Amino acid sequence: MSSTSDNPLARFSAFFWAVGVFSLFGVIVLALKLFSSDTSEHNPLEEEAAKARYEFRKTTDEAQAAGFAYKEVEKGKTVQVPPHDIFAHLGESLVSQKPAPVKDDAQIVPGSDTQEDRNNQKGPDMSLVDAKTPAADTPIDPAVMAKGQATYAMCMACHGAAGEGGPVGPPLAESEWVTGPVSNLIRIQLRGLQGPMHIKGQLYTPLAPMTPIIATQDDETIASVLTYIRNSFGNKAAPVLPEQVEMLRSEVGKSMLTEADLIKP
Ligand code: HEC
Repeated sequence: MSSTSDNPLARFSAFFWAVGVFSLFGVIVLALKLFSSDTSEHNPLEEEAAKARYEFRKTTDEAQAAGFAYKEVEKGKTVQVPPHDIFAHLGESLVSQKPAPVKDDAQIVPGSDTQEDRNNQKGPDMSLVDAKTPAADTPIDPAVMAKGQATYAMCMACHGAAGEGGPVGPPLAESEWVTGPVSNLIRIQLRGLQGPMHIKGQLYTPLAPMTPIIATQDDETIASVLTYIRNSFGNKAAPVLPEQVEMLRSEVGKSMLTEADLIKP
């Protein structure tokens, strides 16, 4: 036996040393673990792409807020200031989009393994979502319409100021899809839409698909723009609720829809 083990004081101090060294070891392991998981889960490409997207979202939100501004041009005559910035930012984002292989929702590269995994996941039950749609004669909240109108600036370039459609996007005015099942509309916003489409008895074969441009916006924003198109351009239908958008969030990241994926209106 060494003299240390016979000396209670020395034994006591040895015990505290051991606890100290052990804790230090734990702290080092924890720090290494945090540090290594940080570098393995983030790659510079993802970071860059995410940064650009969040920056775009921020400037879009600001531009949309500015879209609500009303200005008195002469005494008694007030006009809504057009949200020009929205068009500028939308254009910039479409031109500069460089998809990166990231796991984050709405940033999944088409055809990637992550997307395949998503596609194979069973989606929510659409009938549960559509069952939440309020009665057709439910009054529409003017504040929701105003918010929806501002957001519609992002859709206007392709679908026309009055939803009449154009060379790029099909009409929304009197489209049976717009006034049809709400789950279709939400899924189109969250996943995009491609391929030929029957609308108002006509076959449309768009030059380019509709990408899910507002999938990164919050539930209220998406619900309001859908409520807006369902109650503008001669359309009349029940509002879309934010909770219905929320129910379908797991659709984000799946591949673009085609007409066959939708419920026939
Ligand atoms: C870049 C152009 C573009 C933008 C921006 C765009 N869309 Fe579309 N949209 C399309 C195209 C193209 C289709 C048809 C896609 C297909 O069938 O291949 C479509 C289809 C639709 C449809 C279903 C068909 C119909 O006409 O009823 C709805 C609803 C719709 N878009 C709503 C919106 C809303 C709401 C926005 C704005 C948040 C929006 N779109 C923004 C191009 C666009």
